[in-house]
Amino acid sequence: MSNGKLAGKVALITGAGSGIGAATARLMAAEGAAVAVTGIPEDGVIAVAAEITASGGAAVAIPTDVSIAEQVEAAIAQTVEVFGRLDILVPNAGIQMHTRDRNLHELPEEVWDRTHDVNYKGQYFTCKYGLAQMVRQGEGGAVIIVVSVTALRGTTPNVSYSTGKAGLVNLARHIAVHYGDQGIRANSICPGALELTPDHADLPDPAGREAAIVKRVPLNRLGTAEDIAPFITFLASDDASYATGANFVIDGGLTIT
Ligand SMILES: NC(=O)c1ccc[n+]([C@@H]2O[C@H](COP(=O)([O-])OP(=O)(O)OC[C@H]3O[C@@H](n4cnc5c(N)ncnc54)[C@H](O)[C@@H]3O)[C@@H](O)[C@H]2O)c1
Repeated sequence: MSNGKLAGKVALITGAGSGIGAATARLMAAEGAAVAVTGIPEDGVIAVAAEITASGGAAVAIPTDVSIAEQVEAAIAQTVEVFGRLDILVPNAGIQMHTRDRNLHELPEEVWDRTHDVNYKGQYFTCKYGLAQMVRQGEGGAVIIVVSVTALRGTTPNVSYSTGKAGLVNLARHIAVHYGDQGIRANSICPGALELTPDHADLPDPAGREAAIVKRVPLNRLGTAEDIAPFITFLASDDASYATGANFVIDGGLTIT
């Protein structure tokens, strides 16, 4: 474990109890990082951290709601208490109210607010407290914000989701410009359409979604969390030491069609 490309590094991942966050936690741990597996619900984060430690990796489960500043601040503090430092931050938690986040002229304010509280403000809290720790350490760091191809287009009906995601691209650019002189790199990644979406159970017609999207994907399939995790892990590593302020699209070609 200790010979991997993240040996000696400590990572905190939000929304790591499932999907992209869980796949990234597993891969980063396999590459030698000690990983704070954070998110809600707590069952997921506890299970992922237990799986990593059972296979010889270093992980701690920290149930955390990213929309609550105090919980995020405490998660960063607990990570440093357990592993001594913080080198890698992956603001990844997200929700998607597939059926309610649409029809802008009728959109309930609480749908807009909840989506932005988790997907946008939650990443602000994560970056705020994570950066504060990296600045205190004075040894640089890597931030990889998980966005979405919906940030790049107007096609999704989920308007709260896509507008929050669009803001995150500039959050990464802001960090890259204003913290670069401290050795902190920040990039965003835009996954395309994966087999499982956030709040997948609420999708009204999953088979119809898949059929409609696959027709537009040159690689002819939906993606998986395991397609995305290696990219995040690469950006976190010293192999990506000259990459900052960029937005990387990993979508099987969806956005060029
Ligand atoms: N799956 C896709 O098709 C897709 C495409 C593009 C972008 N993304 C983005 O990737 C990220 C991960 O999504 P995923 O596909 O792995 O889905 P997912 O639902 O498996 O992962 C999101 C995680 O965030 C957690 N979460 C929800 N609210 C939270 C909160 N308030 N605090 C902390 N954690 C919370 C969820 O419980 C879940 O574990 C999200 O930001 C999502 O928007 C996903």
